[in-house]
Amino acid sequence: MNRPPGLSVRVKLTLSYAGFLMVAGGVLLGTVWALLLRDYQVVSARPGEFVPVRSVVVHVYAPATAAVLLFLLVFGLVGGWILAGRMLAPLARITDAARMAAHGSLSHRIRLPGRADELRELADAFDAMLTRIEAHVGEQRRFAANASHELRTPLAISRTLLDVARSDPDRDAAEVIERLHTVNTRAIDLTEALLLLSRAEQRSFARERVDLSLLAEEATETLLPLAEKQGVALETSGEIAPVNGSPALLLQLTMNLVQNAIVHNLPAHGVVRVNTGVRAATVVLTVENTGEKLAPHLVSTLAEPFRRGTERTHTDHAGVGLGLAIVRTIAHAHDGRLILAPLPAGGLRATVELPAQT
Ligand SMILES: Nc1ncnc2c1ncn2[C@@H]1O[C@H](COP(=O)(O)OP(=O)(O)OP(=O)(O)O)[C@@H](O)[C@H]1O
Ligand SMILES: [Mg+2]
Repeated sequence: MNRPPGLSVRVKLTLSYAGFLMVAGGVLLGTVWALLLRDYQVVSARPGEFVPVRSVVVHVYAPATAAVLLFLLVFGLVGGWILAGRMLAPLARITDAARMAAHGSLSHRIRLPGRADELRELADAFDAMLTRIEAHVGEQRRFAANASHELRTPLAISRTLLDVARSDPDRDAAEVIERLHTVNTRAIDLTEALLLLSRAEQRSFARERVDLSLLAEEATETLLPLAEKQGVALETSGEIAPVNGSPALLLQLTMNLVQNAIVHNLPAHGVVRVNTGVRAATVVLTVENTGEKLAPHLVSTLAEPFRRGTERTHTDHAGVGLGLAIVRTIAHAHDGRLILAPLPAGGLRATVELPAQT
């Protein structure tokens, strides 16, 4: 913002210090003056000669008053300038840090020493804000890098397929088309997942009453063929679980969890349990599945974008690693949270807690 130049806060503070001192001094001296003048007594300067008090006051008292006021003015200006400078020194550091942040250097911190006061609180709040922004920007950069990398992969594969087809015209076209189709579908899936993620992040969706238990039923029904193909048994249970949110996004959340539970399950005889319930003011959706044993430190990172837990050799599922990131973002957009916990016997329990609709 371009502002017209003005007086600095240091000058303003100095002027107000000096001003207050002058006013206080003036009032004090004025009171004394008034008291002296109150009684129209006369004093004798020489025996037999009387002078009115007013002229004594004017002659003796006035120059002294002026001298005192002048001293107070100089004292107020100098003292005020020094005091204001000391008080405002931390502000210069905060301003420097803000300017550096504005120019993109987010790693700088103010770290103002000293005991707590308003300015130190401001500096600490500013440091905390910088830490958060730095983490957020880092996350966004990693996300953008990962997303571009993931999007480049199907494109690069398509080009290789096309190059091969061009250099070898006798090759079976049907096979190339089939492989191109697979790669293309994957790129579309990835782009759709990215779009979904950004839509949920923007929180720009209409909210209405949604029963999570109905969504859970819908998701399991839709994914039943996949479960049968993977040899996984699906069990749904629970009570009515009303929340306030976007039906499409919450269905996506449920689908992602159930799909994960089916796909990242045992190679055979796996089980998936989906349950909905209400605990106090919270609606809880739990999806549990059998599977490999998972280390807790690994589980805590699974919801990060593009994170794939274990290298899968026994499934043909080629996930992009956005499923849980989408679940987490949708849960946050609905003021809820996603909790992942490994099960002692292997497999995972994913719990989504959302505020119940009242
Ligand atoms: N229910 C689960 N049981 C065991 N492991 C799981 C489960 N859900 C997720 N994981 C692990 O977490 C990783 C990340 O899951 P996420 O859903 O984010 O990605 P994905 O399933 O690999 O790909 P997609 O984006 O297609 O869903 C998975 O690769 C898998 O290793
Ligand atoms: Mg998934």
